[in-house]
Amino acid sequence: MLIWYRFALLLALTNFARASVVSNVLDALEQAVTCASCHALLGVLKPVTLLGDTIFSNALIAICQTLNAEDDDVCKGVIQQQGPIVAHSLRHISASGQTATKFCNALVGLCDAPAVNAYTVPFPKVVPSTPKVFTSTGKAPFRVVHFSDVHIDRSYTPGSEANCTKPICCRKFADQTGAVSVSAGPIGSHGCDTTGALSQSMLKTVSAQNTLFSIFTGDVVEASVWLVNQTGVTADLKQFNEEMAAYVNSPVYPVIGHEAAPINSFPRNTTSTSTTAQWVFDTQSQGWSQWIGTASASQVQHISGSYSSVVSGTDLRIISLNTVYWYKDNFWLYDSDKVQPDPNGILAFAVEQLQAAEDAGQRVWIIAHMPPSSADAFHDQSNYFNQIVQRYQNTIAAQFYGHSHVDEFAIAYSNYSNQIDTTANNVAYIAPSLTPRNANPAFRIYDVDPDTYEIMDSRTFISDMSDASFQTAPVWKLEYSARDLYGAAIGGWSATQSLTAAFWHKVTEAFSSNDALFQQFISLKTRGFDVTACTGECKTKVICNLRALRAENSCNVATPGFNFARRENIAGGSIHRGHRDHCEGTGLGSIFNTVTSKDFVDSETLRERLETTYAALQATEETA
Ligand SMILES: *[C@@H]1O[C@H](CO)[C@@H](O)[C@H](O)[C@H]1NC(C)=O
Ligand SMILES: *[C@@H]1O[C@H](CO)[C@@H](O)[C@H](O)[C@H]1NC(C)=O
Ligand SMILES: *[C@@H]1O[C@H](CO)[C@@H](O)[C@H](O)[C@H]1NC(C)=O
Ligand SMILES: *[C@@H]1O[C@H](CO)[C@@H](O)[C@H](O)[C@H]1NC(C)=O
Repeated sequence: MLIWYRFALLLALTNFARASVVSNVLDALEQAVTCASCHALLGVLKPVTLLGDTIFSNALIAICQTLNAEDDDVCKGVIQQQGPIVAHSLRHISASGQTATKFCNALVGLCDAPAVNAYTVPFPKVVPSTPKVFTSTGKAPFRVVHFSDVHIDRSYTPGSEANCTKPICCRKFADQTGAVSVSAGPIGSHGCDTTGALSQSMLKTVSAQNTLFSIFTGDVVEASVWLVNQTGVTADLKQFNEEMAAYVNSPVYPVIGHEAAPINSFPRNTTSTSTTAQWVFDTQSQGWSQWIGTASASQVQHISGSYSSVVSGTDLRIISLNTVYWYKDNFWLYDSDKVQPDPNGILAFAVEQLQAAEDAGQRVWIIAHMPPSSADAFHDQSNYFNQIVQRYQNTIAAQFYGHSHVDEFAIAYSNYSNQIDTTANNVAYIAPSLTPRNANPAFRIYDVDPDTYEIMDSRTFISDMSDASFQTAPVWKLEYSARDLYGAAIGGWSATQSLTAAFWHKVTEAFSSNDALFQQFISLKTRGFDVTACTGECKTKVICNLRALRAENSCNVATPGFNFARRENIAGGSIHRGHRDHCEGTGLGSIFNTVTSKDFVDSETLRERLETTYAALQATEETA
């Protein structure tokens, strides 16, 4: 091993003697236009990682800065934080293997996701021959509030620039010295994360709703991913736990989101590293124990942030899963060529708890941050999770997620090759965000049948930021009721029937045939903010994705075509590929994506600037 390492190092040094490291990396990035050339890119990056984390990161920072992929401070902060994790992973994998393909899918957008690795999730018992029937006796529903993606920016500064070039604005950034063009409002502004005032307004409104409990599907921390550190994140998590406790007068069932430092840095237990996310689990275990109980709080600590808790006075078990172990931008997940079906045992925990619920005749709600339907979810784990959903479909009443920031849903089917109302058998409610970054702030209220724990209605409330009152006292008003809006659109839905998966499937059919309804859904996604019509391929893809709780059935594909276009246009054309925008803010993934799709004009001047920037970064390193 050591000999191989030395040999590789020697080889790397010899190769890089000819041209500078950073120039070689730029060449490889420039040539990365297909899945195959992305593998070649990794073949170039791998030897650079053997020269050390600093050289690897500095090369990427210099490229990011020279190509203006992000502001200089963002390039530097993000890559200094996440670069070493990527370097660690690249050192441990083959540049041509399947993990590399996954990396090229997630970070560079040049490979399609590889086919799912066959794995049969083990179940302790077969489906009971006579599954318990959950019947409504027509009792009045109880209320549950669902809020998500609060992303509170404790450094938000009213009056600062709200139209900036960084992933989030409305802060006093050192490099912003000119006159303010758009002034950050006292309560909030688009392009920025949530103010403390907006968050408190939402929590106080929630508190007045007479709820049995609330669910919070994660993401507390603001999207300043280039600045995060453990001290800051811990303080943010604690403060929001305290605020929920102070303002919400019934229990809150939360989940783990992206909040680690670096962001998404949740290593698998198979990785040998001193980095750990245990402090996140410890902080949340302590903060949540008041609502979920001490036994469940202990699970948070020992099951990598997941827990299971029966809501007091009910037969409803809430299973909260840390799905960041299935998330493409958790760069620790690329550090082995060995396929790991169940990182940190999250799937096994879900099975164990679902079996306990089935044995006890309880109903289950699954809650988590990233939905397994997401374009950001690995197809493998989404497939395995879907097997669990199918096995326990009688027990799981519904699922609840956040992450996308938009108001949407995803349907599971007993047969994905035959997607009709009678094969639709589970539904994921994906809640809109509180953060107004790219939408109007929102939360949900569900009316829940107390016998079946099924959803009778889902009502979304928003605060419209274009209202004059918003900047003084935000008003929360009903945006729509799913039963009223969609029930009518599918030709009526019996008042005694819950909003089943069949209901939601019929809604997607109505979207196909009734374009006005579909465009209304598109508008509701961002709560009326920055709406553009979605037609043709866009519409087909959106409807396809709503029917894909199992992500391999979604219609997201890599887009190498755009990169070919870039290659042909490098002499001066201008073709942009969509920026891959993330819930938690711009990370290394978005930077790779931007760099490989940027239509820069390669020139001697550019190369000189690149070399100078890189040399300066290296020099700082040596004097530090
Ligand atoms: C924000 O800044 C961009 C780039 O400078 C500019 O094109 C845009 O018009 C500005 N938006 C507003 C609302 O001022
Ligand atoms: C950590 O982040 C906080 C803000 O969240 C900041 O005040 C502090 O200076 C940072 N610490 C370090 C060592 O960078
Ligand atoms: C990692 O976690 C899984 C699931 O809890 C467990 O089965 C496995 O033994 C752990 N592996 C190590 C190396 O700790
Ligand atoms: C799933 O649906 C397809 C298409 O209708 C059908 O050919 C197939 O037999 C179905 N599979 C099962 C297991 O029912």
